[in-house]
Amino acid sequence: MNKLKVGVLASGRGSNFKAIVQKVDNARVEVLIVDNPDARAIAIAKEFDIPCKVVDRKKFDDKFSFEREIINILELYKVELIALAGFMRILSSNFVERFKWKIMNIHPSLLPSFPGLNAQKQALDYGVKVSGCTVHFVDAGTDTGPIILQSVVPVLDDDDPETLSARILEEEHKIYPFAITLFAQNRLIVDGRKVRIKDV
Ligand code: GRF
Repeated sequence: MNKLKVGVLASGRGSNFKAIVQKVDNARVEVLIVDNPDARAIAIAKEFDIPCKVVDRKKFDDKFSFEREIINILELYKVELIALAGFMRILSSNFVERFKWKIMNIHPSLLPSFPGLNAQKQALDYGVKVSGCTVHFVDAGTDTGPIILQSVVPVLDDDDPETLSARILEEEHKIYPFAITLFAQNRLIVDGRKVRIKDV
């Protein structure tokens, strides 16, 4: 079987990266790119023998040359899908356009509620009774692209951001690998704002 070539971009812990590596059978993570030399994701790449490149934003004069370096690496590894997994930077519209509907992201809320940073705290502060996570294609906005999959979890009265995040994270580790599996099966069709999932 020809496996889909995936490039993962991460900035931190890397638990979604690990879930993708462990759970997606029809795709292969060819390279991990981190923008942060201290990202814990680097150790996970080592554990699974996946090439890891550190592209430190501080070493580049501007966003354009920083992204150019990322693109060079993605091209070198012939990446067909880019998975953002806790990547803490907004990609330029040029970058997004270049890989149109070939970039996915996972966000820890039920979009379009609570985009941006600290989504779990935003949900708690608002007082919602359910929250969850969303896998979406990336467009030029922040957490605004067409939604692929969502999963719902309850918000409990005694939740704090940590307990809610942990409950949501369990679901992230299920739906992100599943979304990539569907993409690798060519089953995701973007139709305006809607992503249709083709039957097999
Ligand atoms: C996750 O909560 C994800 O939804 C958000 O950033 C966090 C990354 O966690 N985009 P990890 O690095 O995958 O463990």
